[in-house]
Amino acid sequence: MAPKKPTAGHNDLSDDFTLWTVYFLLLAWRYTNAASLRTFFQPDEYFQALEPAWNLAFGPDSGAWITWEWREGLRSSLHPVLFAIFYRAAGFASNISDLGPTDRADVLIRTPSLLQSAIAAAIDFFTWRLAHRIYGRQSKITHVTLLLTAVSPWQWFCSVRTFSNSLETALTVFALYYWPWEWYSASSEKGSNSRLSGRFAGNLNVSLFAAALACILRPTNVLVWMVLTVLLFRYNTSKIQTLAVRAVACGILVLIVSLIADTAFYGKLTFPPLNFLQFNVVQSLSTFYGVNRPDYYFTEALSLMLTTALPFAASGLWQGLRRPAASDAEEDRVRQVRHLLTCTVLSMVLVLTLITHKEVRFIYPLLPMLHVIAAEPMTNFFHPFPVPASYTRRALLALMMTANLLIASYAGTTHQRGVIDVMHYLRQQQEARLQHPPTGSQPNITVGFLMPCHSTPWRSHLVHPEIAAWALTCEPPIDIPPEQRATYLDEADVFYKTSAEDWLRSNMASTDTIKRDSLETSSDTVKDDKLRAWPEYLVFFDQLAPTLEHYLTGTQYTECWRGFNTHWYDDARRHGEVVVWCLPTPEDRERQKS
Ligand SMILES: *[C@@H]1O[C@H](CO)[C@@H](O)[C@H](O)[C@H]1NC(C)=O
Repeated sequence: MAPKKPTAGHNDLSDDFTLWTVYFLLLAWRYTNAASLRTFFQPDEYFQALEPAWNLAFGPDSGAWITWEWREGLRSSLHPVLFAIFYRAAGFASNISDLGPTDRADVLIRTPSLLQSAIAAAIDFFTWRLAHRIYGRQSKITHVTLLLTAVSPWQWFCSVRTFSNSLETALTVFALYYWPWEWYSASSEKGSNSRLSGRFAGNLNVSLFAAALACILRPTNVLVWMVLTVLLFRYNTSKIQTLAVRAVACGILVLIVSLIADTAFYGKLTFPPLNFLQFNVVQSLSTFYGVNRPDYYFTEALSLMLTTALPFAASGLWQGLRRPAASDAEEDRVRQVRHLLTCTVLSMVLVLTLITHKEVRFIYPLLPMLHVIAAEPMTNFFHPFPVPASYTRRALLALMMTANLLIASYAGTTHQRGVIDVMHYLRQQQEARLQHPPTGSQPNITVGFLMPCHSTPWRSHLVHPEIAAWALTCEPPIDIPPEQRATYLDEADVFYKTSAEDWLRSNMASTDTIKRDSLETSSDTVKDDKLRAWPEYLVFFDQLAPTLEHYLTGTQYTECWRGFNTHWYDDARRHGEVVVWCLPTPEDRERQKS
């Protein structure tokens, strides 16, 4: 397995064919992956991507939920714009093919997966290509890298979700593949002919452009490129100027693109990274979303992200810490790139540790590098791969693959599935009315979610703008003076931390309007328009059932749906199954009377 010289961009035709074949196989894999996910992970998947995209594609009357970040211009529009294009195209295609509301909804719900699986497949593909550049095309280690990323449970769980972190990861590994790793080698300084060859210059521009886009999407990505640039100072100062000039050029280009896009999107001159800093650092609103332990990334996040690959990644990082001899020997060149990747990974984790709000997703862009780093120890441990000589190791490899399969399928189909299932149930209730308009009752269903804010997806799953829905909100204290922020409670806090009954009393119409003997439907009899009418469908977690049973005794509500949500709880407010209570429609009441 003689490693080759790095050959980014150097392919003949049959080579291109193989590469495209691999990409399309990965795409099919990720599409299957996306189509099989049934679970909820984190609200940003919907509220920071699909909802603004929905709003852009179908207009302000389409019922998308726009969070404060999008009202204040904190987020780059480039990410939702991509999904909006797909939504618009899917909406257009369903109109010209005259689909009914149910089929159209099915198409729209699946639409984001088309784009997202292409992004997810790009993560796998360029992780493999990065391994090519380091270990050589035919090396076993390169094959192992592809295997690691393709069967990673984290990739299965997260890469096909519409997080900006997934796109950031794809852009990062793409840029790393085209990054000028040769500059760090011993021979590069000596033979420094200052003119770049055409292809090489092209690759550098491509790399810097992708890196700049990743930074616009998520400003913390700048750390990756800062570390790599600082390391270049240590190896080869003659290239710094070239890098700086091109980085500035690409950066300005991306800034102009994003400034135009954001100004068009927000309807006024907007520069999200600046607003982002202003809100999160200056006003330190991000702590409103949680403060984590300082060791979170090292003790928890890395294990969650790497799962079974963790021991190999740890071993690879340990080996990568040592700075290799500056020689042109192939082995030293490989060690050196691994050393650079190790420095990048560790520095970024260390810097992110300083930020109080931590999530696994924030270190996701490091996963491709970690897979490349883990591949060599793993190949050596399971030598000869894929059928190790030792029986114990054979068994371990089988165990590792089985564990991956179990984790991925549990996380993908079971953990937190109720909050997705309930959206399908509600949508189907509305579709039934669209297909057979009821005579007596409202043509549109009304839904209220008494859950912690953003517990379910929103219009990307409800689809029909006819569904009139509301949920408890959790607006951060933007307009509140800093000294009052410590005691600030958002709506969901008021509901859960003080008294749910008080909240119901001061926000909902009197329960007299929905008593069993009352003749009218709720919405007709609400006089005080500051109070909300009781919705036909009330959605909550089972832990709230005793409170509601007490508050709503003698009303017409009956349970009409219940779905399993999860075996594990980290939040007492989300305990139990997802439950839906309904008010009877006029038809139901007619039936009851006769
Ligand atoms: C039902 O929803 C549609 C779409 O949002 C709206 O145009 C219509 O006025 C609603 N009908 C009623 C009776 O609320």
